This record gives sequence, structure tokens and C-alpha cells, in this order.
Amino acid sequence: MLNYNSKPLLFALVFIHSLFSSSQGQLLVGFYSQTCPTAESIVHSVVDENFKRDPGNPAVLLRLQFHDCFVKGCDGSILINNGAEGERGARGNLGVGGYEIIEEAKKMLESVCPGVVSCADIVALAARDAVSLVNGQFYEVPTGRRDGRVSSKSLAANLPDVDDSIQLLKSRFQQKGLSDRDLVLLSGGAHTIGLTACFFMQKRLYNFTPSGGSDPSIDPGFLRELKANCPFNGDPNVKIPLDPVTEFKFDDQVFVNIKNGFAVIASDARLYDDNNTRQILESYIGSGQNFLADFAKAMVKMGKIGVKTGSQGEIRRVCSNVN
Ligand code: HEM
Repeated sequence: MLNYNSKPLLFALVFIHSLFSSSQGQLLVGFYSQTCPTAESIVHSVVDENFKRDPGNPAVLLRLQFHDCFVKGCDGSILINNGAEGERGARGNLGVGGYEIIEEAKKMLESVCPGVVSCADIVALAARDAVSLVNGQFYEVPTGRRDGRVSSKSLAANLPDVDDSIQLLKSRFQQKGLSDRDLVLLSGGAHTIGLTACFFMQKRLYNFTPSGGSDPSIDPGFLRELKANCPFNGDPNVKIPLDPVTEFKFDDQVFVNIKNGFAVIASDARLYDDNNTRQILESYIGSGQNFLADFAKAMVKMGKIGVKTGSQGEIRRVCSNVN
């Protein structure tokens, strides 16, 4: 119990707590409105330009944020280019790209407001702009993330894997504070755009666990098509759309595909294996704006995983290297 004599202790505790809170800081919408008012518009223009160059770029940028946030939090660590032992070299990060787009935005930002805008925030803003460019919903991104200084392959060992069971996928998301709903929205939902390499299809098509052969959840006609596009021992780098019906449009078509046996990658098909994720998935079919709005909310939530703020981390000068 506290008595008169413990007052100094109480003050000390309050002081330490306030120090701790200020070094923690928090994310805020419009964090750069005073320090770099053009930050968001610069990122937007770079994403827009790159979309015009290649309509596949929004998908690349959206995936990049997921891979950033799931390893050591949304701290831009995946952007660090530190060789084969770095985060980028992990199996789970194979095919991740968009690094040069983030670097392009960073370069422009450094020329206008040097040392102000973090690479981690550029990743989050670029993903938002990417989604809204392909028919998704625009959403406000709380900013103020700081950049991490650590990138290591071993830290990326627990990324969700395409061949994980639904139980494992759910628990990997739970470990990041994300619910079953977030899993459906973010993993299934995001795969409404973009491509997968045949590399990620091998087990599903030719060596499915536990029965061998192919995943029985695949529609037979679609299985023939997938096998023709990704033959056994064929080129693992050939890419096919994750949503073959509306490849460049952010919509709920991917959920229709999954329901009907037209999921392309195994982890999307697994969302139908579990009562809860199946019900969530079905609730978004035909829900239009509802799916887009909930996806946006889930992105904001994912964007808060393990962020560094206040005096933690740093603001990198270039995104590919720590200061
Ligand atoms: C259960 C978790 C997830 C798994 C197992 C998974 C797996 C995959 C795989 C295997 C690919 C193909 C990659 C390639 O061939 O380069 C892919 C692509 C993609 N993923 Fe995921 N993913 C998951 C969650 C997410 C999340 C949370 C997002 C974003 C919010 C996301 C966005 C994307 C996008 C947009 C692509 C297409 C990338 C492109 O066209 O280059 N994924 N994912």
C-alpha cells in the first residue's frame, strides 16, 4: 500500500512512465502534415506512374506491405538489401518485389524533406494507393512508423506458407494480433489481384499432403487448366493470375472462385476448410462495398503490427540500407 513516504517513488514511476510513452509515440493520420506536407502526394504520384508502366505493380506493392509487417513489424526491414542472409533471402519472401518503386519515392521525398519520411511509411502508403488504383477503397493510413535496423533471413522463418493447413494459417495470423476475419480479408481478399509463380503450385498439383496427387478441392476442369499452365517439372517461374476471372480488379470475385473450386493457390483454398473462415468468406460474396471497406480496415490493422515510433529505430536515408 502507498503511504506518505512512498510519494517520491510514485512521482518517479509517473515520470518513467511518461518518458516511456513519449519514446513509444503513436501512429497518426496526417503525421507529416507539418513536417512534409507533400509526402502522401509524392508517394501517390510514384505509385500512379508505376501503375501506368505496368498494371501488375499495385499487386506487387500490396504484397510488399504484408511481407514487411509480418517480420519484425511494419518497419521497412524487408527493404534492407544485406545479402543472402538478409530477410529478403528467406524462402517465404521469394518473388516479393516493388523495392525499386519504394526507393524511387524515397529519393523524391529526401530531396523535398530530408530525413523525415520513413521507408516503413512509404510501404504502407504505397499499398493503400495501389489498392485504390485498382478499384479498391481509399483509406486513411496512420503514419509515424520508424525504420528498423535489423534484417535477417532467420526472422522470416515463420511467415505463413502457401502449403500450411488452415489451423496453422489461423495461428500465424493470431500471433500477429490478427483474427480469422483478417485472415480471410487480407490473404484471400488481397489475392483478388496479382500473380503466382508455378513454383508455389507444385505441391498442390502434384504432391498434395496427405494423399499425394492433387488437391481434391480443385474443380476437375480447372485442374486440367492449372496443370497445363504449370506442368510437372515445368518452368517454376511461369506466372499465372491468382484470380483468373478479374485479374486487375479489386473485387470479391476471388471468394467466388474459392467457393467453387477455382482457388489458384492452396492457402486460398484452405480458407474453405474451416467453418468459421468459410462463413466469413461467404458473407463477403456479393457484399460489394462491404468487402472493400472491411479490407481497408484490416489493412490499417495489419499496418500497426509491431511498429516502431517516437525515438525507436531511425529514418533511413535510403531504404535499402540502414544509416
Ligand atoms: C496466408 C497468408 C498468405 C499466403 C500463404 C500468401 C501466399 C502468396 C503466394 C504464394 C503468392 C505468389 C507469389 C509469387 O509467385 O511471387 C502471393 C502473391 C500475392 N499475395 Fe499473398 N499470401 C498470403 C497473404 C497475403 C496478404 C496478407 C496480402 C496483402 C494484404 C497478400 C498479397 C498478395 C498479392 C497482392 C500477391 C500478388 C503479387 C504479385 O502479383 O506480384 N498476400 N501470395
